[in-house]
Amino acid sequence: MTNDISRRAWLKGGSSLAFAMVMGNNAHAQNMAVPGFIPTPDNPVRLGSNENPYGLSRVARNAIIDMFDTAHQYGRGRTMELVNILAKMEGVKAENIAFSGGSGEILKTLGLIAAVEGGRVLTADPTYHGLTRYGERRNVPVTRVPVDDSMTIDLDAMKAAYTDDVSIVYLVNPNNPLPTIMEKNKLKEFCLEMSKKCLVFIDEAYHEYVNNPDYETMVPLAVNNENIMVARTASKIHGFAGVRLGIAYSSPTWIAKLREYMTGSTNKLAIAGAAASYKDIETQDFCRRKNQESLAITYALFDKHNVNYIKSNTNFVFFETGIDAEELRQTFRDNGVLVGRPFPPFTNWCRVSMGKPEDMEYFAKVYEKIFVKS
Ligand SMILES: Cc1ncc(COP(=O)(O)O)c(C=O)c1O
Repeated sequence: MTNDISRRAWLKGGSSLAFAMVMGNNAHAQNMAVPGFIPTPDNPVRLGSNENPYGLSRVARNAIIDMFDTAHQYGRGRTMELVNILAKMEGVKAENIAFSGGSGEILKTLGLIAAVEGGRVLTADPTYHGLTRYGERRNVPVTRVPVDDSMTIDLDAMKAAYTDDVSIVYLVNPNNPLPTIMEKNKLKEFCLEMSKKCLVFIDEAYHEYVNNPDYETMVPLAVNNENIMVARTASKIHGFAGVRLGIAYSSPTWIAKLREYMTGSTNKLAIAGAAASYKDIETQDFCRRKNQESLAITYALFDKHNVNYIKSNTNFVFFETGIDAEELRQTFRDNGVLVGRPFPPFTNWCRVSMGKPEDMEYFAKVYEKIFVKS
């Protein structure tokens, strides 16, 4: 490429080949929809990290490419367009929003706050480990409350487990690895009551996938009360897992505290891409439709073989296998499929992320090869 214009035109050409050359070969062939792709243990179908198999939307890609022109300049002060889009979408003010390099950074920052300022984290079991793992490595005590018989976070038991040293209650809604939700009214009541005593932090990483009348976001509560925070991520339906953008919604006091402790940041490419992506409802709808198609294939497989599984409010399914999760993970990998890590105490269960429908057909074949004796 000899000049900026031809380089940008080349990048924007957007053929999968051009993009694969930019992103590296692995991005090119990791799902069954790519002709000629043969899964191997070294280059498996990726069903282990709840990623979006469709990648970034075209408009997000183009917005990022356009931003390359000024990528050498610091990004400070360039976030207002995205802030305004999100503020309007969620009915909040700019002062209620902070960005991070993925929502994992928000989780870790809260773990850091607990470590520095003292306090226990109260959470469910099993649930996502980002906050607690980081906190525990810095000696933050953690109380874990088992989910109830319907595999849902048990808010009554969490209230009962509260002790005076708890500084953060961490809830994931929908949960991960169990793709269940907490009933909206019960959760609201819990947030209002417990936020009088400590920070209630709701991780809504899978918010955009939920299609359940019993679910509701806690963003309105988070911005109208002092001690409630919600985290969202662009990693899931927006496909930004490798681009990195997390969003915190809370009171101005908590937003300021989060910023004070945060050591990293997102970047202007992510901000520009997200400004385009959050407006692109059509692509989000497409991803939700395809996710439902992939779920249907997966449910049909499990129904056919009478497998115990949890119906999903997300882009993954949790199913019982009767086999040690680490061992099974390796067996799937040997057959060219990456599935989720072990999630104690459910060590005989497995989490499978939704790929494209073709990926789930392949997963079904591998599942039957492993589990169904011919
Ligand atoms: C519940 C939950 N929270 C947070 C994260 C972290 O996501 P990210 O740092 O990519 O925003 C994940 C990632 O899978 C998740 O499942």
